Amino acid sequence: MKGIVIFASGSGSNVQRIAEYFSTGDTLRILGIYCNRADARVLERAKNLHIPALVFGKDEFYHSDEILDRLKALAPDLIVLAGFLWKVPEKIIRAFPQRIINIHPALLPLYGGKGMYGEHVHRAVIANGEKQSGISIHYVDENYDRGALIMQEKCEVLPGDTPETLAERIHQLEHAHFPATIEQVLLQQRNTACDGLRDAK
Ligand code: GAR
Repeated sequence: MKGIVIFASGSGSNVQRIAEYFSTGDTLRILGIYCNRADARVLERAKNLHIPALVFGKDEFYHSDEILDRLKALAPDLIVLAGFLWKVPEKIIRAFPQRIINIHPALLPLYGGKGMYGEHVHRAVIANGEKQSGISIHYVDENYDRGALIMQEKCEVLPGDTPETLAERIHQLEHAHFPATIEQVLLQQRNTACDGLRDAK
C-alpha cells in the first residue's frame, strides 16, 4: 500500500475528494494532513475522516528540521500540496525529489508565483478578460509554481463570471482530476522502480 502526506491549509475540499476516491480498496493511505493554520476547515474534515493532522508554524517549517524529520519518519511515497500556500523549503524538496506535487487553480505558467493563490488567481483571470482558465498539477521544485507539469485541464471563463463562480468551476475540475492524477503518479513510480530492477538484472 502506498502512503501520502497532504499539506493543506484551506477548506480542504480536495483532501475530502482524495480521501473519498481512495476509500475503497487498499491502494493508498493518507498518512497525515499537515496544515499551517489552526482555524482551517480542513482540520475539521481531517477529524471526520479519521486522518491524523498536524498544525505547524514557520519556525518548525523553515527554522528547524522538525517537519523534515517527521516526513522522513513517515516516508510517504508522495507529498501532495492541496491548497497549501507556503513555499516548501529546499531541504524538504531535496529529501523528496520528484515526490512532491501541487495543484494550482490556473493554467501555469500563467497566473502563478507568489501571491497568486485561490481567489486572487480568479480575480486576475477575470480582470484580464481571459476566455479560458483551468487547473495545473505539477511537480514542486525550488521555483514557486514552476516545476514540471504533470497535467492541465481547461475550462471556459464565462461572461458574467465572478471569482466565486469561476472558483466553483475550477474546484469541480480539481475534484474530477486530482485523485486520479495522484494515482497515476504513484503508478508511474512503481513502473520506474520495476524498470530499475529489470535494468539491474
Ligand atoms: C484549490 O483551488 C487549489 O488549487 C488552490 O487552493 C484551493 C484549495 O481548495 N491552491 C493554490 O492556489 C496554490 N497556489 P480546497 O482547500 O477546497 O482544497
